[in-house]
Amino acid sequence: MRFVPVNCIKEGMILAQDLFNANGDFLLRKGAKLHSSYIQRLNDLGLVGVYVDDDLSSEIDIPSLISEDLKIRTVSTIKGIFVNLEEGSGLTEKNFNDVTKLVDEIVDEIIASRELVVNMIDLKVFDDYTFYHSVNVTVLSLVVGVALSLNKTQLYKLGLAALLHDIGKVFIPKKLLNKPSKLEKEEYELIKTHPYKGYKYLKEKFDMPVVTYIGILQHHERFDGEGYPYNIAGHKISLFGRIISISDVYDALTSKRPYREALSPSEAVEYIMAGSGTLFDPDLVSNFLKKVSPYPVGSCVLLSNNKVGIVSKNYPDACLRPQLKIIMHGNEAVKPYYMDMKNDKNTYDVTIIGIANV
Ligand SMILES: [Fe+2]
Repeated sequence: MRFVPVNCIKEGMILAQDLFNANGDFLLRKGAKLHSSYIQRLNDLGLVGVYVDDDLSSEIDIPSLISEDLKIRTVSTIKGIFVNLEEGSGLTEKNFNDVTKLVDEIVDEIIASRELVVNMIDLKVFDDYTFYHSVNVTVLSLVVGVALSLNKTQLYKLGLAALLHDIGKVFIPKKLLNKPSKLEKEEYELIKTHPYKGYKYLKEKFDMPVVTYIGILQHHERFDGEGYPYNIAGHKISLFGRIISISDVYDALTSKRPYREALSPSEAVEYIMAGSGTLFDPDLVSNFLKKVSPYPVGSCVLLSNNKVGIVSKNYPDACLRPQLKIIMHGNEAVKPYYMDMKNDKNTYDVTIIGIANV
């Protein structure tokens, strides 16, 4: 399969993955032929693109860090919790137990796939942003945690903080969170209260590890002290706060929001790189960059020699030098062949210059 950005989807393409919303309902089934009405629906749903199956990419599989089933169950559970809280019925002991079990499962799956690079182009439905975002931030944070050799107990505490990091948003009016125009100063000040509100709510209600509460409280602090709520800097910010801040920004940037379009993974990776040492802890950024690919498997990329290839494999620690299946030269189709930008020295003078819109 390969990834096609939403503006490049053509009629007749075959969907390669089931699409769900946060209730776990099917939106479109794998194998569906994309007619114009479906393409319009994909646009309306706010998806950044879809995976399609075609002759060129049939042997390319997208390795995933956690199973689709676990992801959907976690997204649905988080949605249930947010809805309960918004409706005033509060978070129950059962909700909390469900979350802790899911975090355990996610940690186990991430440890089992520790050799993998994150190949995530997340297909999240616009209206369900917060729930998908919570799960993605958890996966990304745990990948960094594994790269730092945290043990299983530490990973569990980190995963719990990441999954619940934005729970304080239920105490902020939705119209502010989804405001398409620039926020007024007092509106922004209100949004900035969500880390503390989430921290306070959980601390009063549930017995969690202290590092978990603190990670939630500090997920908007910045390495240079320009974040919130307390403007603390450097290593005064807890490890979990520093990790979650990177994952949170990366996943937010790659999502379509009411006030801006989604960035591609490579653009978001560059943003994280640019923020190394100012917004983010530079040591953690270098760990993040080893594990998160700017060109996930299935992306079509344009090379400096004017060839176009589909990323077929990513190597940890060398995310800019994937294995590719070359399919075009300029606008002309070529007989497909593989090119290994990491292991074939003859390719070392070729670079990826961007996403190819094919
Ligand atoms: Fe947040």
